[in-house]
Amino acid sequence: MTDPNANRLWIQEALNLELAARDARPLSQRLYDALRSGIQQGRMSAGQALPSSRQLATELGIGRNTVLSAVDRLLAEGFLVSRQGAGVFVAEWQWAPRPSCNAVPDTELSLSRRGQRLLDFAGSTDERPTAFAPGVPALDQFPRERWQRLLRRHQQGAPLEWFDYQSAGGVRALRDALCDYLQLSRSVQCRPEQILITQGAQQGFELIARLLADEGDRVWMEEPGYGGAQACFASAGLQLEPVAVDDAGMDVASLPDATPSPRLIYLTPSHQYPLGSTLSLARRTALLWLARANDAWIIEDDYDSEFRYSSAPIASLQGLMDNAPVIYVGTFSKVLYPGLRLGYLVLPPSLVAPFQRLNARLHREGQYVAQAALADFISEGHFARHVARMRQCYRHRQALLRNALAPAVQQGLRLSSGHAGMHLVAFLESHALESELVERARQADLLLSPLSAYYQQGSGRPGLVLGYAGASDADIERGGRWLCENWMACIDHLPTA
Ligand SMILES: Cc1ncc(COP(=O)(O)O)c(C=O)c1O
Repeated sequence: MTDPNANRLWIQEALNLELAARDARPLSQRLYDALRSGIQQGRMSAGQALPSSRQLATELGIGRNTVLSAVDRLLAEGFLVSRQGAGVFVAEWQWAPRPSCNAVPDTELSLSRRGQRLLDFAGSTDERPTAFAPGVPALDQFPRERWQRLLRRHQQGAPLEWFDYQSAGGVRALRDALCDYLQLSRSVQCRPEQILITQGAQQGFELIARLLADEGDRVWMEEPGYGGAQACFASAGLQLEPVAVDDAGMDVASLPDATPSPRLIYLTPSHQYPLGSTLSLARRTALLWLARANDAWIIEDDYDSEFRYSSAPIASLQGLMDNAPVIYVGTFSKVLYPGLRLGYLVLPPSLVAPFQRLNARLHREGQYVAQAALADFISEGHFARHVARMRQCYRHRQALLRNALAPAVQQGLRLSSGHAGMHLVAFLESHALESELVERARQADLLLSPLSAYYQQGSGRPGLVLGYAGASDADIERGGRWLCENWMACIDHLPTA
């Protein structure tokens, strides 16, 4: 059963094949790969002896150390075993039956029920910086060279603790700079200690859901609303309760009288996502008192408030009341770039320690170099300059889009006010029109996001969410003209309701 000679030929053959392959793998790696796949494919069965390393080296014309390195690795991984005085053998193990190609499980079938449900909130991941991907900033306008210089500055001077596990809530200089900015620009009431740096708003939602709500607890969500937050709360087992949105933001009065109070209330008060309304002062006050009276927490997602075109940014909800029952969530994904993965929470003092501890346990802290670079970016004035430049750029891009859509608007296409943000909403006459335009756009390699997909209940309102911030002027003009022509072509033959 153990015939070392029988194996020599195929090892020689397999190694020759490996050597013929044009790649940069060292010889010992090639021998290892040849032996391992031979064993896995059953060319050497369990118990068979391997020729001695000396023999293999001579016959293959390679160094003995090369052979030993490959064999030692296979011994360590359990593919081979060594028996004292007898040599090296293929290990005994139960070969799992190889599934036939047809039996390979389909990825979708192998997802959990929860995973499957979460994907419904996930939307498209195909958000390229083209007309009309929503939520993508002008990446090419980011001052990359300046940013690289700041990163290098902090890479070179990185203190030892940045290499370690930490749970202090983030780099202190960034929390100081953010605190100044939030107090001044957003009227947030805070001290630097109350700020927890996260890897984006999404991680903030995750921590809030895990720490402040139990499975089955209710969370009021704006309807339509942000899929990222919906997915996060659903994955924590919370019960999502859609609350209608109108021109004054979330309309709690639309809920039936007997609706039980929630544990969490998720809001985008400065600029409702995706419809764009601002939460009125009356509703802000009512929600704050409702949360306080019912031991609930408001989650204020302030994702893009810097981009307001008709007035100064709206002050935060958090700053409206002393010790407000609000967790303020901020992100640099819109104002700088999403790949940065930096955001923050402003927490009431009593929640700081538990959030810091859970964050360090669940996600770990990190990105200290980027955090320190960002602190300088803010305190040296580059952040304010970049925001001002982007505000101008997005105002201009929105005007280009409106201009391109003007002929359709003259014929009845209704657009959102666009007084803020990075997208416009075009309201459509029917779901049939929405689907037809989305399909036509797909074929034309344009990304059109259907407004109805932002609703959790019912078929939603038909429309299109048209991101303009991240696309070039030329793409916006081209995309706008395309949409205008196709809207006009479709309304001629599609039913209007
Ligand atoms: C409403 C809203 N909140 C928050 C975010 C940002 O999330 P993150 O910081 O995780 O990138 C987005 C991004 O698309 C958003 O649309």
